[in-house]
Amino acid sequence: MDAFRIKGGTRLTGRIRIDGSKNAALPLMAAALLADGPITLRNVPELSDIKNMIRLLSELGCNIHRDQDDPGTLTIENADVKQTHARYDIVRTMRASVCVLGPMVARRQRASVAMPGGCAFGHRPVDLHLRGLEALAARIQLREGDIVATADRLQGRTIFLGGPFGSSVLGTANVMSAATLAQGKTVIESAACEPEVVDLARLLNAMGARITGAGSPRIEIEGVDQLGPAEHTVLPDRIVAGTYAIAAGITNGDVILDEFPYDSLLAPLDLLDNIGVHVHKLDNQQDPFSCSVQVTSERRLKPCVLSTQPYPGFPTDLQAQMMALVSLADGNSIITEKIFPERFMHVAELSRMGAQLIRQGATVMVQGTSSLIGAPVMASDLRASACLVLAGMVADGDTTITRVYHLDRGYASMEKVLNSMGADITRYQVDEP
Ligand code: EPZ
Repeated sequence: MDAFRIKGGTRLTGRIRIDGSKNAALPLMAAALLADGPITLRNVPELSDIKNMIRLLSELGCNIHRDQDDPGTLTIENADVKQTHARYDIVRTMRASVCVLGPMVARRQRASVAMPGGCAFGHRPVDLHLRGLEALAARIQLREGDIVATADRLQGRTIFLGGPFGSSVLGTANVMSAATLAQGKTVIESAACEPEVVDLARLLNAMGARITGAGSPRIEIEGVDQLGPAEHTVLPDRIVAGTYAIAAGITNGDVILDEFPYDSLLAPLDLLDNIGVHVHKLDNQQDPFSCSVQVTSERRLKPCVLSTQPYPGFPTDLQAQMMALVSLADGNSIITEKIFPERFMHVAELSRMGAQLIRQGATVMVQGTSSLIGAPVMASDLRASACLVLAGMVADGDTTITRVYHLDRGYASMEKVLNSMGADITRYQVDEP
């Protein structure tokens, strides 16, 4: 199993490009199940989650071709629409597999998807997905751990898709995708507003769907009889972008990030600016959703009060990274996790590195300290792993992180990217039971 050895005392300088978004690419790939004809996706990131989705779609009867000259370009085409079972041993490794459910029942009249289990930060229900599809007249049954959805033809309806923690990103993706082939009009109220939902609507409309309102809490979909081929370029990954901006800040570095989705990160960038990490656009004429920025930081960082929210609020996927940053701030910060109240697997590991953290339920008080101490720690989920890498780069001494396969799910060769800007990270093998 892979591990990292990180030498502390890093200051990042240099220039990197932000890859395409994992959380956009996965539902975009699943949308290919709806199409009569090939779907070509560009700027697909090279990640283990993407490889898992390729494996899943292949098992679901899709032919998938990766461009020899550009591994970031995938073409996906339905070949055998009789395959409708997403098996547990794939779904359990990647919860996002659930996003094949809506497209498959809409186009193939049947879908059997293993119920996703929990993950490192607690129970991950799919009740909103199922409620939304049932509202579209899908018949949903649970059989031996599989969600079995059937429908001759889905029927458009007005659906309230809000849950106890607000909207659901993949729930919105599933219902919006399914509604494209429903009979009649569907309205999704309390839809997720994330940029990844907007990107998915762009592809679906290019395939012939009739979606309006994506990016707002109210999405309207006029059902059509068929969706055709299309080409689409995946938008930049706002969480990877935010992670590398925080990496520049925590190391008091000076870096340039290209294809940075500035206007998809206004909440984190506003908070970072108040803390003392400044992200400046190099050219105001560029696309604000994919532009070049310079990241610099004050030597002394200010504390902050942060609560994670659905988009456009502060993203839960940057919560762990921010905790590493403010562990070194001048004063006490308060971090509250309102999306996944258990998403604190990084707290114990960060504490091993000397961070002063006091957790009460879904809130952590971070008492800023002058330095962190390198230590052996263990990765537990994707963004918690990123947090430990950031901390390791600035800690006194060496840090080893085991189980970095968690990191590889969402960051392509993170050690190579950071080493290109001056970090000292070595990937090595460890034998683990
Ligand atoms: C997406 O997960 C992202 N994953 C997550 O990123 C991200 O943390 C999350 O959205 C929130 O922004 C992908 O896009 C592949 P949700 P998703 O449904 O859609 C509750 C990463 O690190 N809920 O928006 O599965 C849920 O428990 C990953 O890249 C229900 O109650 O998340 C949570 O509290 C981690 N019932 C809240 O809603 C449901 O049916 C938001 O979850 C579904 C969700």
